[in-house]
Amino acid sequence: MTQPVPVRQTAYASGAAEEAATAQTPPAAALGQTGPPVFTRAEVEQIHRLLPFIAYVDGQLSIDGVTGERLWDGQRSLLLHVPSRAVDNYRSIRDAFARYFSVSVNCAIKACYLGPVLAALRDAGAGAEIAGELEWRIARSLGFAADRTIVNGMSRQADHLQMLLSDDGLLIDVDSMEEVQHLEWHARLAGARPKVMVRVNPLPPDSFFSERSKLGVGADAAYELLEHVARSAHLELYGLHAHQLVRCTDPAQFGEIARRMGDLRTELASRTGGRVSALDLGGGIEARYLLERAGHSIADFALAARDALAGSDGFELLLEPGRYVFGDAAVVLSRILGTKLKEGQHWHIAEVGSNLLPPTSDRAYPPLPLRIADGTPWKRTHIADPTPTPARLYLDAMLPADIAGEGIALLGTGAYTAVRASLWNAGLPDIGFIRDGAVEIVFDRKAQDEAFRALYGIELGPMDAELEEPQAGVAEPLRARQACH
Ligand SMILES: Cc1ncc(COP(=O)(O)O)c(C=O)c1O
Repeated sequence: MTQPVPVRQTAYASGAAEEAATAQTPPAAALGQTGPPVFTRAEVEQIHRLLPFIAYVDGQLSIDGVTGERLWDGQRSLLLHVPSRAVDNYRSIRDAFARYFSVSVNCAIKACYLGPVLAALRDAGAGAEIAGELEWRIARSLGFAADRTIVNGMSRQADHLQMLLSDDGLLIDVDSMEEVQHLEWHARLAGARPKVMVRVNPLPPDSFFSERSKLGVGADAAYELLEHVARSAHLELYGLHAHQLVRCTDPAQFGEIARRMGDLRTELASRTGGRVSALDLGGGIEARYLLERAGHSIADFALAARDALAGSDGFELLLEPGRYVFGDAAVVLSRILGTKLKEGQHWHIAEVGSNLLPPTSDRAYPPLPLRIADGTPWKRTHIADPTPTPARLYLDAMLPADIAGEGIALLGTGAYTAVRASLWNAGLPDIGFIRDGAVEIVFDRKAQDEAFRALYGIELGPMDAELEEPQAGVAEPLRARQACH
């Protein structure tokens, strides 16, 4: 079971290279070196094929059936969550795995805290994966059932442990002897017998979960923890847990983690007679739209797990997807502040900043035009943010030449964005969600300014300073209202 596996790389499909649609466009040197291949013009125009809740209707972008002014007034940029897509993503994973397993899908709420999105998932039957006290409070206040909540985290403090132990049915994860002993001590005090899962790293270390990662334990240490838990009068040995994938688009890689977990379970039974009732394969699957664009579906992952676990039975399968469920379930609608021509390359500067959208690759947030009009030429351009950093949102995009005046929509903005956002430099856009065919805003500039005052003690003045009328004949040069040529 320690056979080497190939070094893991995110396997983005090679896709239709620099696309036929660029045929009319002079070849431009691509700047992007990381991330998936560029979205082609055809992919943009037919985005509904990849993301069925997004389409161009009479040339106008429509999201979840909302279009035009009802979608966005173009005033302040907007992070718009689409709960119905998150639910659809959740159902796709649940249904795929339910064909072969007794499965519980526990969405990793660390990826998205927006109440209406989480409530929609809860109502659809999803469980929650949480890490730390804050997320326990979120899950509690939203009413996720305790026995559908997986509690990850480390070095839990006494008061938090006592709260966890008062919540009957939680699955509590541990990955060190100190943590086990603390939990055991508090369980005895509380007269509780919590269900415990042990977190192991079944795959060899790689650049993401390196030897120097603090997370999980190797197989030998895992046996030690499992045996300790199995012998304890105050703990119930329940599961074996792994979370070692990141943005995985490769079903074989997922199958490998499943196979190794099955082997560990069998080995534990033969060594100690200890029996684990649940195998938790964690999260780490790429956002659904990128997975499907790379030529796979979640059904391929379920099949790989079925094959890998064919020799094991009598267990519940647990999954903790974050990015897969939330990643493509939000779109940022951003103004374009200006353009720049640098060494022959065109740049559009979006209003939304990398303080909201972490620049995780050169092509993390594929841009779409808000409008597609016949006859408008398409050009290659880079999309960057206005912060004083080299952050880029998407390099080498193919877009209509008039986006500067229109604004853009950025895909893939639903996971690990608002939860990790800061009020640095660019500030935050409005944040909202779509319910019953209408956009509801939950965070606006007033809320941003209040948060700023609470954090930094500065009352920001009004933004709309009275502007003097420009003198007759002295018009401001056009900026971002014109095409970038
Ligand atoms: C333990 C655990 N489970 C699940 C997840 C969700 O991962 P992803 O969003 O990549 O699916 C994470 C993310 O960090 C995690 O730490």
